[in-house]
Amino acid sequence: KENLKMIMVDSLPRPTLIDFHGVSMTHYFTSNWEKIQSFQARPDDIVIATYPKAGTTWVSFILDLLYFGQTTPERQTSMPIHIRVPFLELDIPSLLLSGTEMADNLPTSPRLIKTHLPVQFLPKSFWEQNCRIVYVARNAKDNAVSFFHFDRMNKVEPEPGDWNSYLQRFMDGKMVFGSWYDHVTGWWEKKQTHSKIHYMFYEDLIEDTGREIDQLCHFLGLSPSVEEKERVRGGVQFDNMKKDNMVNYSTVEIMDSKISPFMRKGKVGDWKNHFTVAQNEQFDEDYKKKMKNTTLQFRTEI
Ligand code: A3P
Repeated sequence: KENLKMIMVDSLPRPTLIDFHGVSMTHYFTSNWEKIQSFQARPDDIVIATYPKAGTTWVSFILDLLYFGQTTPERQTSMPIHIRVPFLELDIPSLLLSGTEMADNLPTSPRLIKTHLPVQFLPKSFWEQNCRIVYVARNAKDNAVSFFHFDRMNKVEPEPGDWNSYLQRFMDGKMVFGSWYDHVTGWWEKKQTHSKIHYMFYEDLIEDTGREIDQLCHFLGLSPSVEEKERVRGGVQFDNMKKDNMVNYSTVEIMDSKISPFMRKGKVGDWKNHFTVAQNEQFDEDYKKKMKNTTLQFRTEI
């Protein structure tokens, strides 16, 4: 069965970007569109929404440990994170169950569901059921760098090409799941009128994971003991996640960790090792224009 899977993965074509209602996407996330849009949420579902590479897996693991770390510890040793927290819109025919099927089959309560959809594409049932949504944003430059390395190692992402053209594509919003600028600001605007969105930042998680876990617990109405919170905080440190095969995606066939590991650096400011001075100046100038109408602020001291 494993050999067959390897053959199937090797024969999967790298997708091309399509314009999907004004957002760049690939068929791996849109072929199941009617099922995605008619997905039936439950009131206690928790959505983890992010632009790709903003810290989705980190926050997914934190939530999984908070909800199930004590009651079902065997999840941590036997269930990879992408099974525990299904990826709603993912649909790679004949390889895996689709994200909606996996979510439908989840026996847990609450269900933790991951999505990279821009805010206007979230299935309406999540709004009707007034589900809690945790949104994680990461500064644009590190997000772009992380996405570049991810696209190198992930066989179901479009070919990244060289870094310079990739960065230009990022600035043009021609990435899978569209423009970073539209994504982070779209969810930010929604949060201003919707109290069930907890908007957090990767950089804050790096600065003080414990504080961010406290705020998450407050939002979710959880009150774990001090020891339990400390156990979660320790468990989700980068070095621990990097060596944990259940959360580091090393068992996922579509990703080649030899090209670049999923748990790559886990740092703020790695963009400085990638951007030239000229690229940085051009990026900053463009950034100011694109972000001039939003109140969303990222830390500048990175
Ligand atoms: P880098 O490529 O910069 O290392 P996502 O889960 O949204 O795909 O995001 C992946 C990014 O989050 C990667 O960034 C990964 O290393 C980082 N990450 C995952 N777990 C982390 C942790 N515990 N601490 C810090 N960064 C983490």
